[in-house]
Amino acid sequence: MAEFTSILFKKRILLGVTASIAAYKAAFLVRLLKKAGAEVKVIMTPDAESFITPLTLATLSEEPVHSDFTEDQHQGTWVNHVALGLWADVLLIAPLTANTLSKMAGGGCDNLLMAVFQSMRKHTAVAPAMDLDMYQTATTQENLNKLRERGVQVIDAETGSLASGLEGQGRMAEPERIVKILEEHFSANAPLSGKKALVTAGPTYEPIDAVRFIGNHSSGKMGIAVAEELARNGAFVHLICGPSSVPCTHPLIKRTDVMTAGEMKAACEKYFADAHITVMAAAVADYRPKDFVPHKMKKGNAPLAINLVPNDDILRMLGERKASGQLLIGFALETDNETSNAREKLKKKNLDLIVLNSLRDPGAGFSQDTNKVTMIDRNNNLAKFELKSKADVAVDIVEKIVILCAQ
Ligand code: CTP
Repeated sequence: MAEFTSILFKKRILLGVTASIAAYKAAFLVRLLKKAGAEVKVIMTPDAESFITPLTLATLSEEPVHSDFTEDQHQGTWVNHVALGLWADVLLIAPLTANTLSKMAGGGCDNLLMAVFQSMRKHTAVAPAMDLDMYQTATTQENLNKLRERGVQVIDAETGSLASGLEGQGRMAEPERIVKILEEHFSANAPLSGKKALVTAGPTYEPIDAVRFIGNHSSGKMGIAVAEELARNGAFVHLICGPSSVPCTHPLIKRTDVMTAGEMKAACEKYFADAHITVMAAAVADYRPKDFVPHKMKKGNAPLAINLVPNDDILRMLGERKASGQLLIGFALETDNETSNAREKLKKKNLDLIVLNSLRDPGAGFSQDTNKVTMIDRNNNLAKFELKSKADVAVDIVEKIVILCAQ
C-alpha cells in the first residue's frame, strides 16, 4: 500500500488517443499513470489504431480499449459515452491532432471520443502533437485559444526534432511532464489542501525490563494507509508511529517514531492543537508495568507477577481538549456487541467519527492487508463497508473525513 505516493492514486483517468505519430508515447503515459496508482481507460479515435494497437493500450491499462459506439452490433452492445465521462476524474487527450482539435473547438461529434468530450463534467486536458507549421497556423492557435477560454487545459507542445525531420515546436509533451501536470492539477484541487492532520499508527511497547515488553500485534498498516491517503488529498500529516516496519514515503508526511504509550501521548500533545484532523488508529496499550527493571531480569522457579498500571487514554484526553473546527476520529476493535460498544466509545471520547472493526470478521484486524469496517459518525449515521485492502479502506475513511470537514 505504501508504494503509491502520487496524488494520482485511485484517480480515474480517461485517456483519449488520436491519430498522430506521437500515439506511441501513449503507451509510456499509460504505464506511468498505472505506476502512480491511477485507474486508466483508453478511448482511441478509429484512425489512431494505425499508429498504436488497442491491444497494447488495453494490456497496459488492464481495461478494454474503446473506439466505437458499438462493441457488438449483433448483441446490441454499445459503449455508453455518458457513463465513461461520468466515470472519469479527468479526460486527457494525448496526443491531440489538429483534426480532433478543430472538432473540439467547433462542436464536432462524429466519434466516441468527441461524444465523451462533449459530455464531460470534469476537467479536460489536451497535449497537442503536430508538425511545426501546422502547430503555428492561425486556425490551430485560434482553436487552442478557444479551448483555453472554455477551461480546457492545454499542455503546450515541446520544441525539438519532429517526425517530419524538421526542428521546432510541435512534439507532444513528454509523458513524465504530462503526469506531473496532472498531479499539479489534482494537488491544486485537493480537498484537504492546507489542512493539518495528526495520525497515530501501530502498537505501543511497554517495557518490563531491559529486553522485554508488553505489546500487541498491530502492524501499523491501517494507520499508515490513512496517513498516506490524507497526504494524497493534500493534507500535511504528522504521523506518530509505534514500532512498525511499514514504510511511508509521501513528502507531505512527517513521521515521528515512538515506543511507549507515554511517548505517543507526548507527541500527540505537541501536535494536536494545530491539527484540523486527528485520526487515532494506533493500538495503544491500556496498561504498562508499574516498575521498569533497568537490567535483564533473571528467571527463577517462583511464579512471577508483573504489576500493571493504566495508561492514559490519549483519545479521550484529545476529545476533552477538542476545539470547534477540529475533527477527531477514533478506531474501535471489538469482539462482541460491536456497534453498541463503538457508539459508546464515540460518545465517551467526544469523537466525530469512529471506525469499527470486528475481530469476528475474517480478514479484518491486526497484521492483515485487508480490513472490514463500519463507520459511525456523531449524528449516528452508520455505514458498513465490504472487506477491502487497507489502502481502499483508507480511501473510504478519507472520503468521509472530506465530507465532515465540509460540514
Ligand atoms: N486509545 C487511546 N489511548 C489508549 C487506548 C486507546 O488513544 N490508552 C484509542 C485507540 O487509538 C482507538 C480508540 O482509543 O482509536 C479505541 O481503542 P480500543 O482499544 O478499541 O478501546 P479502549 O478505549 O482501549 O477500550 P477497550 O480496550 O476496553 O475496548
